[in-house]
Amino acid sequence: MVIEASGLAKDYVIHLKGKGLMGMAKSLLRSEKKVVHAVQDVNLNMEEGELVGYIGPNGAGKSTTIKMLSGILTPTKGSVRVCGIDPQKKRIQNAMNVGAVFGQKTQLWWDLPVRETFDLLRRMYNIPMERYKRNVDEFMDYLDIGAFAEQPVRQLSLGQRMRAEIAASLLHDPKVLFLDEPTIGLDVNVKVSMREFVKKINKERNVTILLTTHDLQDIEELAKRIVVINHGQVGFDGSMEELASKYADGKRSVSFTLQQDVPEITLPEKMAGHYTIEREGRQVKIRHDGHVNASDLIVALIQKYRLKDIDIRGPQIEDVVMEVYRS
Ligand SMILES: Nc1ncnc2c1ncn2[C@@H]1O[C@H](COP(=O)(O)OP(=O)(O)O)[C@@H](O)[C@H]1O
Ligand SMILES: [Mg+2]
Repeated sequence: MVIEASGLAKDYVIHLKGKGLMGMAKSLLRSEKKVVHAVQDVNLNMEEGELVGYIGPNGAGKSTTIKMLSGILTPTKGSVRVCGIDPQKKRIQNAMNVGAVFGQKTQLWWDLPVRETFDLLRRMYNIPMERYKRNVDEFMDYLDIGAFAEQPVRQLSLGQRMRAEIAASLLHDPKVLFLDEPTIGLDVNVKVSMREFVKKINKERNVTILLTTHDLQDIEELAKRIVVINHGQVGFDGSMEELASKYADGKRSVSFTLQQDVPEITLPEKMAGHYTIEREGRQVKIRHDGHVNASDLIVALIQKYRLKDIDIRGPQIEDVVMEVYRS
């Protein structure tokens, strides 16, 4: 296993400040504390070369998990091993093994040009020149960094900066890559090239990647395995197909408008029990489960009724994820 986390938990203690002068005076005397259980009992094992999508709503505990796995935060409970070592105890060794990108925060030096930043990283990580050159050439070319390589980081657009960030995180050939919202705020073009790059790195270099994102397309295109977290607890760990089949029932629907008034909609006997009909006059929505094929359903309908504006919806990931939280 490249990543082994068991019973991982993190509490944050927040010191509440009283409001107003009296409140301030009170909190000076006796500060009130509140504990946030940001992550509770998370178990996560990842094998070499896996790419796992870590998803959940805001405040679910994703970033906190990644910070514990990458050695930035000490867990309140539980243990972490990355490439067999405790990332907090062996910080330098761990830094050689992992790369990380945090979409909300830069890891680069604001005032240095991109190319100098890369060179500084080469010296910090002691990257052999030949390796370094090969990586820089490949990344610059693939991510189109050449055009802004001489500009200081602070002058870059978000899209340019994120491309530089991900390249920087991989210069030392880490075995593990943590990506925390790497595509947040990016426009579609940059998102697509970031995705392609992540896919390529995972495939060609067998880098183990843990990715958090709000972008469901990132997940659908990149991750075979998905871990869903909410309120600090893992609610699902498995494949996209399993996620869809377990939580997507009732999330499939066919909607249409009838061209004529009909008293009742009837469907073939064999579909009984696998659908529900919602209807308002000529507007009809049929929700169905995985036992009913949308095209069979439409064929059956068309044989009996005249329809227009047919809209077929498969399970939407958003809905599926919501369903995981509900259950
Ligand atoms: N430094 C911190 N101090 C106090 N609470 C925090 C801190 N960082 C995160 N939290 C809280 O911990 C919970 C999990 O946050 P986070 O891991 O950032 O979630 P996510 O990345 O899934 O949005 C949230 O309730 C958040 O408000
Ligand atoms: Mg986060």
